[in-house]
Amino acid sequence: MKKNIHIILLGPPGCGKGTQAQKLIREFGFVQLSTGDMLRAAISKGTEIGMQAKSIIDKGELVSDEIVIGIVRDRIFSTECECGYMLDGFPRTLAQAEKLDQILSDRNQKIDVVFRLCVPDDMAIRRIAGRRFHITSGRSYNIEFNPPKIEGRDDITGEKLVQREDDKEEIVQSRLNTYHELTEPLVRYYQKQGILKAIDGTGSPENIYAEIKQTLNEVPA
Ligand code: AP5
Repeated sequence: MKKNIHIILLGPPGCGKGTQAQKLIREFGFVQLSTGDMLRAAISKGTEIGMQAKSIIDKGELVSDEIVIGIVRDRIFSTECECGYMLDGFPRTLAQAEKLDQILSDRNQKIDVVFRLCVPDDMAIRRIAGRRFHITSGRSYNIEFNPPKIEGRDDITGEKLVQREDDKEEIVQSRLNTYHELTEPLVRYYQKQGILKAIDGTGSPENIYAEIKQTLNEVPA
């Protein structure tokens, strides 16, 4: 089933935004707009934005509102997003949220639902500590919760898995602090708009997805 819905996935690092996004892509065909992925792509291509973003991301801080608003604005109205999209990791500050609302209302669009994935910090830290990636495909594993068939190797290609630079323990705490200080105020912002749906993010990926899906099925197409 495809729906033209605009979703935000909100929550701390490691809460499972990317994991749930993959499930939503498979079932609903939504386009995932992950500002983290876009910034990492810019870094690996060596673009000017990438060069500006790298040292900030590596410290666990936020890239400027101006940069991320610019990269989202470029994608959000493109034809690929006509059947709906989910914003993953954006907005992350009140300024980004307000700007997003303004950009959307200029085009008579709006966000339909904001899923807040709630997990305690200690669980987020544990999940991030175990996360590994296959760089070329973006496939994600977790040494504790979703291990590859052969330790340290991608299931399909057998190539080496790596840890994201900002997933190192000392940076993760800084990312969580940044989340609590600058991003958590968005919970109130979207609560006031009546579009926030809090989801318990501590269960299995399948149970979390079932709850998200139930809410989505209630949103008019
Ligand atoms: P970004 O890439 O957005 O990272 P993040 O928000 O910190 O989120 P993560 O990717 O770490 O976690 P996730 O919630 O997607 O969890 P996942 O599903 O992988 O941002 C990175 C940086 O870019 C930022 O720090 C900032 O510098 C910059 N940036 C990005 N957007 C920006 C913006 N808007 N403004 C300014 N700067 C911006 O799951 C984590 C692990 O847990 C995985 O291994 C997974 O397998 C496992 N897992 C998931 N769900 C479960 C479950 N239910 N049970 C057990 N394990 C699970």
